[in-house]
Amino acid sequence: MAQFIQRTEQNVIAIRDELIAGLAAPHAFTSPKYLYDALGSKLFEAICELPEYYPTRTEAAIFDTHASAIAQSIGRGATLIDLGAGNCAKAARLFLVLQPGQYVPIDISVDFMHDAVARLQQQFPQIEMTAIGMDFSGTLDLPDAVRPEKRLFFYPGSSIGNFTPQEASGFLRRLRKACDVNGRADGGILIGVDLVKNKATLDAAYDDALGVTACFNLNLLHHLNRLLDADFDVRNWQHLGFFNPESSRIEMHLEAKINHTVRWQGGERRFERDERIHTENSYKYTQREFILLLQKAGFGDVQIWTDPQEWFMVCHAHAV
Ligand code: AVI
Repeated sequence: MAQFIQRTEQNVIAIRDELIAGLAAPHAFTSPKYLYDALGSKLFEAICELPEYYPTRTEAAIFDTHASAIAQSIGRGATLIDLGAGNCAKAARLFLVLQPGQYVPIDISVDFMHDAVARLQQQFPQIEMTAIGMDFSGTLDLPDAVRPEKRLFFYPGSSIGNFTPQEASGFLRRLRKACDVNGRADGGILIGVDLVKNKATLDAAYDDALGVTACFNLNLLHHLNRLLDADFDVRNWQHLGFFNPESSRIEMHLEAKINHTVRWQGGERRFERDERIHTENSYKYTQREFILLLQKAGFGDVQIWTDPQEWFMVCHAHAV
């Protein structure tokens, strides 16, 4: 029987304080995690189906093409820790070839994963399954139910790109630390990383013709209205999504179409026309840059697999 553990509850007051501080800043910003309310998560699933959004299908093709080489590099019996597991589909596709000893899907709420994990447990009774609800982006305090041996942190989809390189470096170091068993390095990381490419391809992936990414970005305002009891009017804002080559990142912003004031419980802010709220960054790396980041965090023996156009890469690296 699968085990379900809810580790951290979301602190409503801390969320409000964080959001209001960002919205009141001279250049307003919000953390990308607020893009994912129930509708936002569905819109992100739709983005993954878009012809312009190449990362999901490119990564899936890399896993399909190189499954046995990846499995060989990892070895059997891993403690497969799936960071941001969602519906667990990406990890589940690797079960047969990887044969993990334990599967540990982690996401913000254990409820999101309940049905998927229960179904997978029936399908793969030989794999011990322990689902954990926690925010792993800050600290990584894994419960004792997670086996310490052969931990393999699985972080697909280039979610690492939504951290700044400095945050990514801290995050990778925390994962590396969690690979130690009695002071000895064990296990590793299997990670998907989106690579730098031509601007037109990147721009289109984050500003698609159907406007799904625009809906995903604008839906943040509905989420903020609920979290802050605010009165953002979606019709007063437009989506911007573009590659900034100087910073090697996609930037998503919401731009005010008119001068107006937005009110929330206990505060307000006037936004002038063209003023922006910065809602997400998605950093794109070169192969060299990312391998260096892994090595600096204490991972080595890095193996990489890419697609023929070298748009995306999957890395397996051992804790050293
Ligand atoms: C989840 N994350 C890796 C996506 C990305 O590509 O940065 C989120 C996203 N934002 C707009 N489109 C997709």
